[in-house]
Amino acid sequence: MARIVAGVATSHIPAVGAAWDNKKTAEPYWQPVFQGFEPSKEWIAKVKPDVCIVVYNDHMSAFSLEIVPTFAIGCAAEFPIADEGWGPRKVPAVKGHPELASHIVASTVLDEFDITIVNKMEVDHGLTVPLTLMFGQPEEWPCPVIPIAVNVVVYPVPTGHRCYMLGKAIREAVESFDQDLRIVIFGTGGMSHQLQGPRAGLINREFDTRFLDNLTRDPAANVRIPHLEYLREAGSEGIEMVMWLIMRGALDDDVRERYRFYHVPASNTALGHIILENARV
Ligand code: DHB
Ligand code: FE
Repeated sequence: MARIVAGVATSHIPAVGAAWDNKKTAEPYWQPVFQGFEPSKEWIAKVKPDVCIVVYNDHMSAFSLEIVPTFAIGCAAEFPIADEGWGPRKVPAVKGHPELASHIVASTVLDEFDITIVNKMEVDHGLTVPLTLMFGQPEEWPCPVIPIAVNVVVYPVPTGHRCYMLGKAIREAVESFDQDLRIVIFGTGGMSHQLQGPRAGLINREFDTRFLDNLTRDPAANVRIPHLEYLREAGSEGIEMVMWLIMRGALDDDVRERYRFYHVPASNTALGHIILENARV
């Protein structure tokens, strides 16, 4: 059967992608960021996942105000890179896994999660920046990727609890797929950041640290965080962190923290990153 073996959470700051694409990784501002992901790149090169499920949000690249799915899953064989205003990032197109994605649709819908099927979709920095951070710049991404897009842009966004339960449904779906696949699930976005308005630039290290601590040992505490607390404590875009709870829900209750990295500033954002492995092997 297929199994989710580990979870990766990381911010998906577009400026990090631009720094990589424009070869600025050695500049003093960016060097610590990329250095912080060196252990992660080594780790994932050893884990060698057969498939990655990447939970991210679209930033009005594939979707617009015309259609706003709360949860959407990419079932296509390939996802082109979106043009976010400067031309598409020069990274490999993302290859999907239509068979497993369709299986996840069937399983989660029957599990009473109404997830939108997307057969044609471009992917933006929310998905590609985490791939760059974890895999660098290969000719091709090393494995198929199943994008799961979550609306965290337009009110109402799903609750942390709903996200966590979707994670559990995804895990069940994966475990009922009859191919031997080792899967790593990503949760992207966060950590504390607010991009506009009088509070632009807000960073809350204390909130972020507690969120990271609880992700490993007391996810229920994170699951209870209401929207208003994210907005107040972590800024308007800090709400992206609900997506980390989908990743966490898809793991075992018992996980070990393999690696953590936290860095401020990166753009207007606190960059947070954690790797969790299921405790049972
Ligand atoms: C920025 C954009 C994002 O989508 C995000 O998650 C973090 C930062 C930015 O524009 O700086
Ligand atoms: Fe974002």
